[in-house]
Amino acid sequence: MLSAATRVAMRPSFTASRAFVSTWSNVPQGPPDAILGVTEAFKRDTNPNKMNLGVGAYRDDNGKPYVLNSVQKAEKVLLDQNLDKEYAGITGVPSFIEAAGRLAYGDDSALLNDKRVAITQSISGTGALRIGAAFLDSFYPHAKKVYVPNPTWGNHLPIFKHSGLEIEKYTYFDKNTNGLNINGMLEDIKAAPKNSVILLHACAHNPTGVDPTQQQWDEISQVVKDRDHFVFFDMAYQGFASGDCTRDAYALRKFAQEGHQLVLSQSFAKNMGLYGERVGSFSVVCADAEEKARVESQLKILIRPMYSNPPIHGARLVSTVLNTPELKQEWLEEVKFMADRIITMRTKLRNHLEQDFGSKKNWEHITNQIGMFCFSGLTPEQVDKLKDDWHVYLTRDGRISMAGISSGNVKYLAEAIHNVTKD
Ligand code: LMR
Repeated sequence: MLSAATRVAMRPSFTASRAFVSTWSNVPQGPPDAILGVTEAFKRDTNPNKMNLGVGAYRDDNGKPYVLNSVQKAEKVLLDQNLDKEYAGITGVPSFIEAAGRLAYGDDSALLNDKRVAITQSISGTGALRIGAAFLDSFYPHAKKVYVPNPTWGNHLPIFKHSGLEIEKYTYFDKNTNGLNINGMLEDIKAAPKNSVILLHACAHNPTGVDPTQQQWDEISQVVKDRDHFVFFDMAYQGFASGDCTRDAYALRKFAQEGHQLVLSQSFAKNMGLYGERVGSFSVVCADAEEKARVESQLKILIRPMYSNPPIHGARLVSTVLNTPELKQEWLEEVKFMADRIITMRTKLRNHLEQDFGSKKNWEHITNQIGMFCFSGLTPEQVDKLKDDWHVYLTRDGRISMAGISSGNVKYLAEAIHNVTKD
C-alpha cells in the first residue's frame, strides 16, 4: 500500500509530465485593456494618495462612487412591487425601450409617434454598438466600412473589427488648438465614398471632450446628406456635456428631423450611474412601421444567439425613473449636478496649475473642453511619470477622467501635472 504522500508525488501534473503539451501553450499573453487595465493597476497600488483618472466613472466630491437618489428611490419602488424574475423578451423591457427612445429622440418625436424606430435594449453602450455592428454587417447594402473620429473611444475599433467591418478615421481633434478641426472633419467626410457609415459621438466626445457647436452640427449634417452617408450615433453621455439632456440630444434630433438614415447606441451607465447594471439601447430609424417590424425581427435573430435576452433590473430602474414624473425631475437635476461638479473641477485644476504652481503652459483647454474627459496633451512618458512618481493613473493618450477629481485632491493633481510638464 502506497502512502498518501507517495500517491500525491506520483500524481501526473502539468509541470512534472514532460510529454504533456497543453492545448493552450501557444496562447500569447495579451496586453491589458487601455482603459480598464488602468483600473487594475490602480487597485494594486497601496499609496494613500493614489488617484484613478482612467475609466470614465463619476465620483462624488469625496471621491466615492455615486448612486443617484432618484435611482435609490426607484430601487425601493421596485422592491415594494414584488416583481417576478421571468425572462424579458429578446428586445428587453417594453416600458424601458419606450422611455429610452423618448429620452433620446424627444417626447414629441414624430419618428416614434409614427412607429418608425426599431429599438432594442442592449448590454449598455458597448452591447448596443456590437448589435449595431452585427446588423450593419448583415444588412448594410454598401461598403462595410465605418469612419470614426481620430481619436475615438478605444473600444470602437475592436467592436467594429470583431463584427467584420473595416475602420477608417476622419480628422477630428486639432492638436495645435486642443479643439475641433472642423474643416478637416468636413473635408474627410466629403471625401469618403458615397454611402459611407460615419460614426458620430452625439455629445461629450470621448476621449477629447471636444464637441461641434450647434452651427457646426448643422454643417456636418449638410455634408453627410450631400454624400448620402449613413450615420451611426454613439450617445453614451447624454446630459454630461451641458448638464441638460435635451441640449445634449441636439445633434441626434437635428439629424433625425433632417431625414437622415441613422442608427443610435445609447447608454445609461454614466447619466444614471448604472455602470454595472449594463443598461442601454440600440435603435434603427426606419422608413415606416412595416419596415420597422422587419428590422426588429432581424435584431431579434441577431441578439438571440448572442445573449438570448437582456438583464431586467437596470432596465426596470431606468423605466421607473423616466416614467415617474417626480423621479424624472429629480434625476434631471442630479445629471446637472454631476455635470456642474465636473465643470467646477475643471476651473479648480486650471487655477491651481496657473496660480498656485505658476505653470507657464497653456491650460485653457481644461476649461474649454466639456463632458467627462479632458484630453490633456500629456505625453505617454508624462503619464508614466504621473503614475510612477505621483500614483496618479490615466490612460496613456493623456485623457483625464475629470469625474474622478475631487476638492480634496485637485491641488495634489495640479502639483503632479505641473511637475511632470514643467521641463
Ligand atoms: C471610458 O471610456 O472610460 C468608459 O466608456 C468606460 C469604458 O468601458 O471604457
